[in-house]
Amino acid sequence: MEDDALPEENSMAVVAEKLSRLYPMGTGEVIGVRDVDLRVRSGELLVIKGESGSGKSTLLSLLAGLDRPTNGSLRVGGLDLETASPGLLTEFRRNTIGIVFQSFNLLPTLTVLENVCLPALLAGKPGPRVRRRAVELLDWLGMARRSPHFPSQLSGGEMQRTAIARALINEPSIIIADEPTGNLDSRNGTAVIELLGVLNRELGRTVIIATHGTLADHLATAGIRLHDGSIVER
Ligand SMILES: Nc1ncnc2c1ncn2[C@@H]1O[C@H](COP(=O)(O)OP(=O)(O)O)[C@@H](O)[C@H]1O
Ligand SMILES: [Mg+2]
Repeated sequence: MEDDALPEENSMAVVAEKLSRLYPMGTGEVIGVRDVDLRVRSGELLVIKGESGSGKSTLLSLLAGLDRPTNGSLRVGGLDLETASPGLLTEFRRNTIGIVFQSFNLLPTLTVLENVCLPALLAGKPGPRVRRRAVELLDWLGMARRSPHFPSQLSGGEMQRTAIARALINEPSIIIADEPTGNLDSRNGTAVIELLGVLNRELGRTVIIATHGTLADHLATAGIRLHDGSIVER
């Protein structure tokens, strides 16, 4: 099947069918997401909305290969995430997906430049080339002067731009952002969303943003709303 996928399937960044993630809790279970059917075409900018606890982060973790579904099927960037070997999954997380979190998740003991280089060095890419690309990205993001600084010396907006550079270092085709503006003021939040829009429109990346705000609405090419782990609106 793998090799005879229909052309249409090849243009899909995400194909999820009846996707569920239930968290065992005591004798029962908590619903993370339940029976989610979702198709995202390559090159789309999908906005996922929903109140706190509606399942946005759970869904993004599944799409990013950070967590595994309890049920359903999931294909992301052409890879079947259920049957993929641990090695393929690691490579997928490193090279296909770039993730941006609300809390930035930068390593405090590394400089801005080192944080950005790290995923590429872990992927075994040659140091000098990685460094050149990191410098280019930081320059593009207006962060060149911040390269030698540590995360604790940065503003929230600068931390998020560093995290975006880090997410881009391995040239992922799919960028996943979980409430990327949640810890930013409105000016920096707007700048981060616009940047994700540029990555989508100008660089053709598939972008998936979870947010409960409206900042990304004007950039969205598709949208869903989650409630109690299910899609209630498209
Ligand atoms: N690791 C976990 N263990 C148990 N329940 C969880 C876990 N992660 C999330 N949940 C639950 O799953 C539901 C969806 O959470 P989440 O995906 O974080 O929603 P959102 O990102 O929209 O706020 C919530 O009820 C939450 O409490
Ligand atoms: Mg969340």
